[in-house]
Amino acid sequence: MAKVRVEASKSYDIIISAGLLQSAGEHIKNTVGGTKAAIITDDIVDKLYARTLETTLIDAGYEVFKFVIPNGEGSKNTENFLAILDFLAENGFTRKDAAVALGGGVVGDLAGFTAASYMRGMRLVQVPTTLLAAVDSSVGGKTGIDLRAGKNLAGTFYQPDLVLCDYLTLSTLKEDVFRSGCAEVIKYGVISDTSLFESLREPIESRLEEIITRCVEIKRDIVAADEREGGLRQILNFGHTFGHAIELLSDYRTPHGEAVAIGMAMMARACARLAICGTSTAESIIDMIRHYGLPTETAFSVEDIYKAALSDKKMGGGVITLVVPIEIGRCELRKTSLEELWEFIELGLKT
Ligand code: GLY
Repeated sequence: MAKVRVEASKSYDIIISAGLLQSAGEHIKNTVGGTKAAIITDDIVDKLYARTLETTLIDAGYEVFKFVIPNGEGSKNTENFLAILDFLAENGFTRKDAAVALGGGVVGDLAGFTAASYMRGMRLVQVPTTLLAAVDSSVGGKTGIDLRAGKNLAGTFYQPDLVLCDYLTLSTLKEDVFRSGCAEVIKYGVISDTSLFESLREPIESRLEEIITRCVEIKRDIVAADEREGGLRQILNFGHTFGHAIELLSDYRTPHGEAVAIGMAMMARACARLAICGTSTAESIIDMIRHYGLPTETAFSVEDIYKAALSDKKMGGGVITLVVPIEIGRCELRKTSLEELWEFIELGLKT
């Protein structure tokens, strides 16, 4: 078992352990309290793990309710947000009761945003069941939903009270979903940790506790220094500006991790061509992405990606901040004009 303490506007523990789901109720009762718990999950995770969570919550003394959304990015919408708010109100939840997000990034973001809004903020527990949620979205307090114009356009920073990561739940992930999470793991290596990056040449399935712990430690340090993304936290968006554009252009058919993988590869190619990083750094990033069976190219045009990137919320006053690799383990933020953005995309797409 590993425990990582996050010190932010709210301080909380991330517990990473095999089989943790079975004792989740006790952890939640001791840390979060309350008398009611709302499990918010999707239809795939519901069949696999909701029963275990429900049992342990009942054993810990909770009255348990459950709200199930269809699996997939399409569920991170205003309709589900409002429906869960009504569900909480109709079942008499107070702000001292717990919303328990059981699932991947979509469930965590939607449940988190709903918990942040309900009575101006109720208790929130994240129980990630995908690699992506375990290493990234369940930690650090970003919550939100998508609007028609783009991803995560409505949201807030709202830290959970507890994160319980039972990595045995990752064993039932479809291979492509697991792979998608590997893109975020590679991201942590590139932005902050050479030895993590190098270690990724060896299979990670048998080292999940160590890998997840290292990733959330990196994220914890960044969030502690810049919780609301005034500066440093933007480094976590390496690969995400072009990644989000690709997700939007594909109507979210390209999974987040695959889109981020392409975004990281594009950025690596562009930076090597602009002499921001060495060719060997770019090659290492692209080779690692390929090593995990993730894509490095897209058929979308420069113009498509440019227009989609401009709708990104990180755009402001004709300037966009890109995360550029300098060497493995070190990235920098670079303010980029629209002309330069076009050039980055053009150079990033050229193979
Ligand atoms: N996923 C990036 C962040 O939490 O800042």
